[in-house]
Amino acid sequence: MKNINSFYSLASVCVASLLLFSCSQAGGEQPGSEFMPDMAHSVAYEANYNTYYYNNTWGSEEEYEKMAGPRKPVNGTVARGHIPYAYKNLEQFRESSNESFTELQTKAAEVALKDATLVNSINPTNKEDLEKVLVHGKELYTVACAVCHGKKGDGNGSIYNAGNGPYSAAPANYLTDDLINASDARYYNAIMNGKGQMQSHADKLNEEERWKVIHYIRSLQADKKGLDYFEQMGATASKNLTLKEAFAKMMEENEKAVAASLETTTNANDSAATASPAQGKAMAVKLDNVLYSTGLAVLKQTSYQTLQELLEILNMYPSIKIEIGGHTDNIGQPNTNMQLSEDRARSVFNYLVSEGIAKDRLSFRGYGESSPIATNNSEAGRRQNRRTEVKIVK
Ligand code: HEC
Repeated sequence: MKNINSFYSLASVCVASLLLFSCSQAGGEQPGSEFMPDMAHSVAYEANYNTYYYNNTWGSEEEYEKMAGPRKPVNGTVARGHIPYAYKNLEQFRESSNESFTELQTKAAEVALKDATLVNSINPTNKEDLEKVLVHGKELYTVACAVCHGKKGDGNGSIYNAGNGPYSAAPANYLTDDLINASDARYYNAIMNGKGQMQSHADKLNEEERWKVIHYIRSLQADKKGLDYFEQMGATASKNLTLKEAFAKMMEENEKAVAASLETTTNANDSAATASPAQGKAMAVKLDNVLYSTGLAVLKQTSYQTLQELLEILNMYPSIKIEIGGHTDNIGQPNTNMQLSEDRARSVFNYLVSEGIAKDRLSFRGYGESSPIATNNSEAGRRQNRRTEVKIVK
């Protein structure tokens, strides 16, 4: 009996205080409060959309409208972490925002910011890091995009609901070929500027978050196609570079690294100078079609075309030294794989020597299964991991 009484008195105190404190007017330094305000003013339909609420006594309708929208930074200041975005909401920029800034500049003088070839600035290099990016990307996507674009990215979110929902414009379906083949820049542009009925979401996500969401959307597309997203990322990174182009690029990176390290030595007393970021990060190039008989270090016939090209490159740049690296997948014993990868790298070394390249310009090394570039859980991934690479060591 006593318990029931105290329950009732506690409950009535709660109800009374809820009634007393749930709604209060703003004034002085108090922002005021409203009982479950988001139920009356849902932002799910449109980012920053404001429906005037007659019970609102905080200010006039115009004032409230102003308060509901995102604020511009104070004149002359730049928000911490803000990265300027040069592309206006025009069809021509949507199509071209992955072009280099120089190209854009000739198109429109009004675009006046930085060099902005837009590529995803978050590039996880192993599966675990990618997983973290995707977990966060999914959270953000679920909050900011899924009501319209759907949990699976099929454009059928809960508020559109195949045209039966309260939101009438059809959101883009990411799983169409058009959007699968679209550049990352087009996605970024959609977030920054919105498109059609979609408003800008620039103030909903910061730079890093936008790219995470884009990674997540890309992973939905890969899932749809039954592909492994991690492998897909690797595939686009080295896309369409011929061996010669790849070498030219490596030479350029090396020159940059040398220039950077020279700068570090001359500025040795300057506390701001740190070790060159390019150091220890030598880029390696995979030799396409250099293949061996299963379990052996014997080069297959298909290998010679690429090796011929490599010979030409070595003759073209007589001062460079290269390392040939052998890699395997993770099937079998690690020790055996290490040995096999070394033997395979040695086969390439021997071939290049037999074709007249000086021994002191070449070295070889077996990496075994230690540096996969794709997953070992699928045949496609293992095929990528079994590879021979070269990198410039001097
Ligand atoms: C309120 C609903 C809504 C929300 C929320 C929303 N979008 Fe959209 N989005 C749309 C609509 C509608 C379109 C189709 C616009 C058109 O083609 O006219 C669209 C189109 C797009 C496109 C295609 C643009 C193009 O170039 O064709 C992309 C990419 C996109 N949205 C990304 C996102 C991302 C990322 C988010 C979350 C940060 C998001 N959207 C949130 C409604 C929404």
